[in-house]
Amino acid sequence: MGLDVPIVNAPMGGAAGGALAAAVSRAGALGMIGMGSSATAAQLRNELTHVSGLERPYGIGLVHWVMSAQPDLFEAALAARPALLAVSFGGEWSWVERAHDAGVPVAAQVADATAGRRAADAGVDVLVARGAEGGGHGEPRLGTLPLLAEVLDEVSIPVLAAGGIGSGRGLAAALAAGASGVWLGTAFAACTEAATPAGVRDLLLAAPADATVTTRLFDVAQEYPWPTTIPERVLRNEFVDRFEGHERAIDDETKAALAAAVVAQDFRVAPVNAGQGVGMVRAVCSAAQVVERLHTDGERLLRRWGQPDQ
Ligand SMILES: Cc1cc2nc3c(=O)[nH]c(=O)nc-3n(C[C@H](O)[C@H](O)[C@H](O)COP(=O)(O)O)c2cc1C
Repeated sequence: MGLDVPIVNAPMGGAAGGALAAAVSRAGALGMIGMGSSATAAQLRNELTHVSGLERPYGIGLVHWVMSAQPDLFEAALAARPALLAVSFGGEWSWVERAHDAGVPVAAQVADATAGRRAADAGVDVLVARGAEGGGHGEPRLGTLPLLAEVLDEVSIPVLAAGGIGSGRGLAAALAAGASGVWLGTAFAACTEAATPAGVRDLLLAAPADATVTTRLFDVAQEYPWPTTIPERVLRNEFVDRFEGHERAIDDETKAALAAAVVAQDFRVAPVNAGQGVGMVRAVCSAAQVVERLHTDGERLLRRWGQPDQ
C-alpha cells in the first residue's frame, strides 16, 4: 500500500472520522474511517469529504451486523474505492468477493486461529489479530501476543496486531513477533483530529491502565444486536458499577436514562470505549505526533535487539 509506517488506525465509530483518517494517512500510516453501531451511508459520505483529494491511501471500517442491516452502507464504502475495507465481527464472508469484484482489498478482525483460518480461506487479504486487551467491541478470547502467535502460525497472509498497543514497545514487540503492522484504537482516540468529545478526551487522559472493564451492559441497555460473544471494553463508570452482575435489572427507565446520558454526553453513565493501553494516553497530540513517536521509539528498540527477517 506504499505506507511509510506499519501503523493503521482502527476504525472507531464516533472517534475515527474522515479527519482522523486523513491525518493518519498524511503521516505515512493508514488512516481508517470507522462506521460503528449507529452508522448510516449518509454519515459515511459526509466523513469521506475529509479524504477527497487525499493523495495517500486510506481505508474504511464497517461492523458486519450494521452493514447487513444497511446494504447501502456497504455500497457507499465500495463506491469510495478505499485502499482497504475492513468488516469486523461477522462470520459470514459473501461480502469479500463483492469487494474484490470492485477491486477493493479487505481486512477482518479475528479473535482466534480458527477464525483466522476461516477468514483467510474466504479470501480476506489482511487479518487483524485483536487481543482481549483491546478497546471497544471484540471477542475477548486471548491476549494480543498469544493470539498473534497463533494466527501467524495458522495463515500466510499479512497479520496486524491489535489490542493494548500504545507505544513503541508494543509496536516493536508485534513486528518482532512477525506482524506486518499494528492496528491502534485507544492510542489515537484522544488525538486532536479524532471526533472524540472533549469530556471523553479528559477521561482518557486521566485513566490508569486498569480503569477498563469488558461488558455487554451498554449494548443490552441500548438494544444493539451485538452477538453475545462480543462485549466491549470500556472505562468503568457509575453505570457499570450499578448494573454489573445485574443485567436483568435494566428496565425501560434505565434504557431511557442511558439514551439521555448519551445525548447529554454524561460519561458517568454513557459508555467510553478504551483498551488497556489507556494508561499510555497522557496528552492530546496530533495523529502525526502519535505516529512519529511510535515509529521512532519502535525502530530504536528493533535496532537495539536486531530486526528479524520479515
Ligand atoms: C473508541 C473506540 C471505538 C471503536 N469502534 C470500533 C468500530 O466502530 N468498529 C470496529 O471494527 N472496531 C472498533 N473498535 C475496536 C478497534 O477496531 C480495535 O479492535 C481496538 O481499538 C484495538 O485495541 P486498542 O484500543 O487497545 O488499540 C473501537 C475501539 C475504540 C477504542
